[in-house]
Amino acid sequence: MDSFLINGGKKLSGSVAISGSKNAILPVMAAALLCSGKCVLHNVPHLLDFKNMANLLVHLGAKVTHEAGTMTIDTCDINVWEAPYELVSKMRASIYVMGPLLGRLGKAIVSFPGGCAIGSRPVDFHLSAFEKLGARIMIEHGNIYGYCPDGLKGAVIDMPFPSVGATASAILCSVISEGETLIKNVALEPEIDDSLIDFLTLMGAKINRINDNELQIIGVKELYPAEMTMVSDRIEAGTFLLAGAITKSNITITNCEPKHQKSLLEKLEKTGCTFAQTQDTITIFPAETIKPIDITTAPYPAFPTDLQAQYMACMTLADGSCKIKETIYPDRFLQAAELNRLGANITVKDGTATVLGVKQLSGAEVMASDLRASAALILAGLVAEGTTKISRIYHIDRGYEKIEDKLGSLGADIQRIVAKR
Ligand code: UD1
Repeated sequence: MDSFLINGGKKLSGSVAISGSKNAILPVMAAALLCSGKCVLHNVPHLLDFKNMANLLVHLGAKVTHEAGTMTIDTCDINVWEAPYELVSKMRASIYVMGPLLGRLGKAIVSFPGGCAIGSRPVDFHLSAFEKLGARIMIEHGNIYGYCPDGLKGAVIDMPFPSVGATASAILCSVISEGETLIKNVALEPEIDDSLIDFLTLMGAKINRINDNELQIIGVKELYPAEMTMVSDRIEAGTFLLAGAITKSNITITNCEPKHQKSLLEKLEKTGCTFAQTQDTITIFPAETIKPIDITTAPYPAFPTDLQAQYMACMTLADGSCKIKETIYPDRFLQAAELNRLGANITVKDGTATVLGVKQLSGAEVMASDLRASAALILAGLVAEGTTKISRIYHIDRGYEKIEDKLGSLGADIQRIVAKR
């Protein structure tokens, strides 16, 4: 398995372009299943998750190409309705194919996505949305079986929680259901609003936002191929801003959406950082002394759980102590023990971490446990005195395109050690 070697302590400077959003592109790839033809997506980075999703679409009968940031998905011959364990187990977002398969083929078998390192991640809200729309759902032998004996019919779907994935599933399934669907308590994340809804609308779907968290969907008989440039990744953008904050470096991120960074910028301003923004760039001017500021993760527009680990890395060097409360995944603190190996002082209890800032981190061998925890360890490695070796970095390849090249171009000393195969 590949690993990263980081020699910490280098100041960073310059600018870095943010890639297309992983979490926005995955449901859009699944949306392509709803039409018969060739969809074209631009600004698609080369990430492991896209390779996995592409393999799943190919298994279902699609033809997928991905070159120079453009992905084409030809869905003329979708004729398989089963997403098997060996493909689904690589990526939970595989559940996104279930709604489109039910809509297009009237049946679907998707291997039950298991838990993962960041905690229990059930799919009950997805399944309940399919049932509301008329699908019969059964779970047996580790598979979810769905079929629609009487077709799909519009319904009222009231989400128990504004889940990103379940909102996407409910939308993907209802756009070609007969009649009107009302989805209440929907997720407001830009991956839904500025991406999936925009793409489906280009495909011919009729989706109206009737108030802040309710969507009205008028089902259509057919959807058509569409082409779109994908929104940039707000989590990658936030990670680079936090790289600026922790290394006390001026960094400009380009090709980003500043409006998606409000909660992070608000917190970082309180820590003492300042920012300059244009329509699609943000420059961070870091604080000389990092003030400790509490955060609580919650659904958008509040502080994202996907930046919690990276923010924690930054707080390990704050001048005092702060609390980090995780309300989305209460067990998502796997990075804490590894950061402590680098000299941090973090304790975790009942979904809240207390971070007592230290003067300096020191390089050590650490292990990446999941995607965002890996990013946190990289940030810590950039400032730790000496060398940090991070193993199991396949996690980072799921969601960050060539992070070592991007950080290297800013002046970081980071090297990928490719394991002998
Ligand atoms: C998405 C993101 C992930 C991010 C998360 C929260 C993708 C591919 N992944 O994951 O990076 O961390 O949003 O912003 O976009 N829940 C249930 N039942 C369900 C669905 C969710 O109980 O059927 C719970 C989850 O356990 C969790 C909360 O709802 O506690 C939020 O999860 P959700 O928003 O669904 O996350 P994902 O869509 O899986």
